[in-house]
Amino acid sequence: MASSISVSGVVVQRGGRPVLHGIDLEVAAGEVTGLLGPSGSGKTTLLRTIVGLQRPHTGGVQVLGRPAGHARLRSEIGYMTQSPSVYGDLTAAGNLRHHAALHRRGRQTVADVLAAVGLAELAQRPVETLSGGERSRVSLGCALVARPRLLLLDEPTVGLDPVLRRDLWALFRRQARDEGVTVLVSSHVMDEADRCDRLVLLREGRVVATGTPEGLRGVTGAGAMEEVFLRLIENIPNDVAL
Ligand SMILES: Nc1ncnc2c1ncn2[C@@H]1O[C@H](COP(=O)(O)OP(=O)(O)O)[C@@H](O)[C@H]1O
Ligand SMILES: [Mg+2]
Repeated sequence: MASSISVSGVVVQRGGRPVLHGIDLEVAAGEVTGLLGPSGSGKTTLLRTIVGLQRPHTGGVQVLGRPAGHARLRSEIGYMTQSPSVYGDLTAAGNLRHHAALHRRGRQTVADVLAAVGLAELAQRPVETLSGGERSRVSLGCALVARPRLLLLDEPTVGLDPVLRRDLWALFRRQARDEGVTVLVSSHVMDEADRCDRLVLLREGRVVATGTPEGLRGVTGAGAMEEVFLRLIENIPNDVAL
């Protein structure tokens, strides 16, 4: 399968110390890849590096065949930041329309995306009157409305109720399966692993393992992903690619 994202030897420093210690990673096109790791493991930094907002100290990142940060990639990537980046004084629909206009998408796309993220009923509410979870769905909608080829989602389901979480994961799956979108989703919640085609386990700025959920279970003999993660950390010192 062709790679949408190719990360090689990426070292990123923040505040004068390395926070990514030489990341090598291929993200397959048209799949849902989960970037899993505890808080502080480097998920946001890696996503920012892929978007081109964070310059690596050494190493390189290719995205859809171009260097990360290339101007041509702007309309190809939907990036949902960890803290919602939305206009509080605009309505939910207004935020989406703003992004739609930037990417030449019409009203139907806005309506479709509002429905897909479960905001149809709240579309006319100013975002500052919405809850944290609702705001984060507006932010997700803004990333989706450009109809990008690549979706980078930073902890999109944190703090949402289980029904919504399930619905959003179904939406990510549909994006990959029906639209051929490459989806890279970060989470610190290990039980979201099974919703992904492929996993990248990150810890302390290093890739601990990559593989399918079943593959990682097979190699560790563990059931729950939390236990898979622990066994990989304790028994396998180096990166294992499965
Ligand atoms: N602006 C910053 N200055 C210094 N260190 C930072 C900065 N942002 C993040 N870090 C550090 O980089 C590491 C990775 O952070 P981050 O990428 O946000 O992890 P995650 O998203 O997995 O929680 C952490 O140790 C964090 O303290
Ligand atoms: Mg983060």
